[in-house]
This record gives sequence, C-alpha cells and structure tokens, in this order.
Amino acid sequence: ISLKTLNTFGIDVKAKHFVSIHSVSDLQTLLRKKEYPKKLILGGGSNMLLTKDVDALVILIDIKGIEVIKETPKGVWVKVCAGENWHDFVLYTIDHDFGGLENLSLIPGNVGTAPIQNIGAYGVELKDTFRSCDAVHVETGKVKTFYKEDCDFGYRDSVFKSQLKGQYIITSVVFELSKEAHVLKTTYGAISSQLEQRQISNPSLKDVSEAVIAIRQSKLPDPKKIGNSGSFFKNPIISIAQLEKLRKSFEGMPSYPISDTEVKVPAGWLIEHAGFKGKTFGNYGVHKNQALVLVNYGGATGLEILGLARLIQNTISRLYGIDIEAEVNVI
Ligand code: EPU
Repeated sequence: ISLKTLNTFGIDVKAKHFVSIHSVSDLQTLLRKKEYPKKLILGGGSNMLLTKDVDALVILIDIKGIEVIKETPKGVWVKVCAGENWHDFVLYTIDHDFGGLENLSLIPGNVGTAPIQNIGAYGVELKDTFRSCDAVHVETGKVKTFYKEDCDFGYRDSVFKSQLKGQYIITSVVFELSKEAHVLKTTYGAISSQLEQRQISNPSLKDVSEAVIAIRQSKLPDPKKIGNSGSFFKNPIISIAQLEKLRKSFEGMPSYPISDTEVKVPAGWLIEHAGFKGKTFGNYGVHKNQALVLVNYGGATGLEILGLARLIQNTISRLYGIDIEAEVNVI
C-alpha cells in the first residue's frame, strides 16, 4: 500500500506489507509469529522522511484509550494509549483542567512516538510530566514499564532513540498532571506577548494553549496543507568560545544558555542567514516563515528533500563550522 497519507511529509512510497494494530495483545501475537524479520513502526508519521519503498512489514500502532488511573493530592495520573493523536490528547487535558501539557499544543504526531524524541516546545518538554510508559519488546513480545529515570531523556532524545533504538514499541504513556495549582510557563518565546495582545493577565490552561496554537500557526506550515515534519534539524550546541568567535563575523547570532560553557544556537537563524529561508526547488524547499522546516509542496521525493537537507548541512558547516544534525528520522 502507499504510505502517502501516513507520513506528514506526504512522500509517496509503498510498503511491501502493512498491518494496523488495535491492542497490545494483537501486537504481541504479531511479534511472536516472527513471520517478518524487518519491521517499521509507524505512529503519526510526523517525524520521518521516507526515501524509498519500504521492504518490511509496516506496523501502524492504532491503540486507543485515555484513562485517569490515579488521583494524588497534587494532581492526576493519566494513562493514554499510543495511537491517540497528541494534540487531541492535549485538548482532552485542557477540557478536564489537567495542567502541564498546554505548551505542547498542536504538535503533530501520536502519543506513542512522543517520548522517543522527548517532544518539546515553548519551554516545556514531555519529560517534565512523563511518569512512565509501557513498551513491548520487538523480539520477545514482552511488556516492560519504563519509568522516567529509565528513559535518559535529553533535548529531542531518549533511550528509545539511542541504546534501545528499534527494540521496543511504546504502547501507552502515563503523565502526571496538575489538578488545581497549575504552574504555567508563559515567559518563553512569544507566549507572553500573545497573552498581552489578548489582554489576558491571569491566563487559564486554555488561554496558554490558544496562545501557543496561534504562534505555531503563524510560523509552522499545517502538514494537512503542505507536507513537512516540523523542525528538520536539531538546534546545535556549541561552546561559548566558539559563539564569541562567530559573533565577530556574524553579528547578532542568537543563543540560549545551556551550561557554564555551552550555548544552543537556533539552527533556523543559521539557515536563514545562509540564504535558504523561503527558497524553493521545484516542488520542495525551505519554509518561508521558519527556516528550520523543509517542505514538500506536493510530489517531491524523499531523496530530493534529503538532498536539500545535505546541501543545507554542508553549507552551514562551511559557513559557520557548525554541524547540524537531522531531527527527523531518515528511512
Ligand atoms: N530563527 C530565525 N529564522 C528562522 C527561524 C528561527 O532567525 O527562520 C531564530 C530567531 O532568532 C528565533 C529563534 O530562531 O527567535 C527561535 O525560533 P523558534 O522560536 O521558532 O524556535 P526554534 O528554535 O526554531 C524550537 C523547536 C520547535 C519548537 C520551537 C518553540 C527544535 C529543533 N525545534 O524551534 O520544535 O516548536 O523551538 O519552542 O528544537 C519540532 O521539533 O518539530 C519543532 C517545531
């Protein structure tokens, strides 16, 4: 079958075998059969670039369900199955006045793949409210619970991307969310100015969520309209010494502190100042409002987009001496 509608880049490649899974036990049964040695696990398809037909069994994780499993003095534990759409789940938490995920509104993809890259936006990361997740071992079909400390969460990183890459399929996640005394994070990015514009001084979860949605909609292309995978690259981390040296030639290069010796530099700035922002190459290119996002205007191949990504990486390396790493999984 064609995977075109199952990846947000909208790349038209075919899968040799395909199955949609609706329960943990069906997943276990499938894995124990050992019929297909090669597998590709698909969630929302929002963080991958498919470059050729997939000669493997594609397993779409479509397990649904949201449940409050525990109330604590401070909040609630909510268990959510891997196949739930991330943003729909965030809206559910806001409707129930559960706090902690509002800054992560409108991130594409499904719940099950969110921990793999520790999704983050506007000063909040998944790890801040993550309690645990259940995952099925690909080889044995056994379920294991991973607690936060098992996951090695970092910036767009986790154990599921490093040591355990390809070994587990996440089937559900438990978040620990606040009930009443919500701690809102509104200082990051344009959230505070959005709230000011709306004359909101004492924001609710919903106000913060709506501010984030407005900011995202103004910068990021809607994958339903223009194929994309959000930020294609990670923001690089460099030494303060390197930043100071670079600023002699590149005035105004922005940075965010990471430690006493390191800073994070927005890759979007580097790419924009290398002249790529808004550039189109036939039916693909660099988004006009956010240079970190590569786009497929329709009909582009994964290899074309990969070629553009490599051109950008080489140019950034030559120009600034910085290596930028893809955030998207290239398959
Ligand atoms: N910038 C430019 N030109 C651009 C884009 C950005 O100069 O075209 C500079 C500006 O200085 C701007 C700064 O970069 O102030 C930061 O831009 P923005 O707030 O848009 O954030 P980002 O660093 O480009 C990261 C995440 C996004 C997340 C936003 C907001 C990564 C790889 N990306 O982008 O995540 O939504 O912060 O928190 O860390 C994603 O992972 O797919 C994603 C969209």
